[in-house]
Amino acid sequence: MLKGRSLIEPMDLSPEELDEILDLADKIIINPAAYADKCRGKILATLFYEPSTRTRLSFEAAMLRLGGSVIGFSSAESSSVAKGESVADTIRTVACYADIAAMRHPKEGAPLVAAMHAGIPVINAGDGGHQHPTQTLTDLLTIKSLKGRLNNFTIGLCGDLKFGRTVHSLIKALARYENIKFVLISPDELRVPDYIREEILIKNGIDFVETERLENVIDTLDVLYMTRVQKERFFNEADYLRLKDSYIVDNKKMSCAKQDMILMHPLPRVNEISVEVDSDPRAAYFTQAKCGMYVRMALIMKLLGVE
Ligand code: CP
Repeated sequence: MLKGRSLIEPMDLSPEELDEILDLADKIIINPAAYADKCRGKILATLFYEPSTRTRLSFEAAMLRLGGSVIGFSSAESSSVAKGESVADTIRTVACYADIAAMRHPKEGAPLVAAMHAGIPVINAGDGGHQHPTQTLTDLLTIKSLKGRLNNFTIGLCGDLKFGRTVHSLIKALARYENIKFVLISPDELRVPDYIREEILIKNGIDFVETERLENVIDTLDVLYMTRVQKERFFNEADYLRLKDSYIVDNKKMSCAKQDMILMHPLPRVNEISVEVDSDPRAAYFTQAKCGMYVRMALIMKLLGVE
């Protein structure tokens, strides 16, 4: 039963609950008009303490397409957070006005704190370098739609695997499906955190390799998930400048990939994927952005207990 619950990290959802959300998203994609009034009279609050295009706007579009309404703020400076209000007091106030809230925050754990004080469902829309569970729902819906399955494939995760929260959430979620092999491609300084390697991959006997060379492995991949080097999480600009263009996928690299590989990116991209690749039928990142809205429609309905 998902009604009334919060979503802070992917493991909050059992595999069955995850399938339930993806199945509902599929139904919404097939017949969106049937869902146009499902949340009439309900209000979503979007509380974004960090910049966002896709997550905030897809949450808002999702609620509007369900017939509900949206309130919120898109930067901490435009709310009483700028006067020093705590996350707990902010969410207790917002819960007086809204039925459900989505929160993005630069501090790891802030949405969890909010969920503990809210009394309404709180959805983590990205917390620092930690987790981004609704991006994971988006990614799973995209893979399922394009590959027809969520098991038996090799996925390459490439770029900033240290600070990239979408990667951490996706590994956690995919590790529960059968016969998934991870190829982790990053500079040494940006390898996945130890807790992902040890607690998720090694502990569960998941097949994975780590490499610095994308060109050595691209032909083995069914899915290539590129990520941006997360400038905002670096302490030192010189390190960011040295690492930011470590990987650039262009048409030449794509020519070495399988014909049915899908190329994903949570976006925003900087230089990781050349614009020339956008017209390659294997480029799935804008499909991914669209899936994000449908899967958030399904999630909002489930957490509000709307049939
Ligand atoms: N993928 C993603 O989280 O994008 P935004 O930062 O634009 O929300």
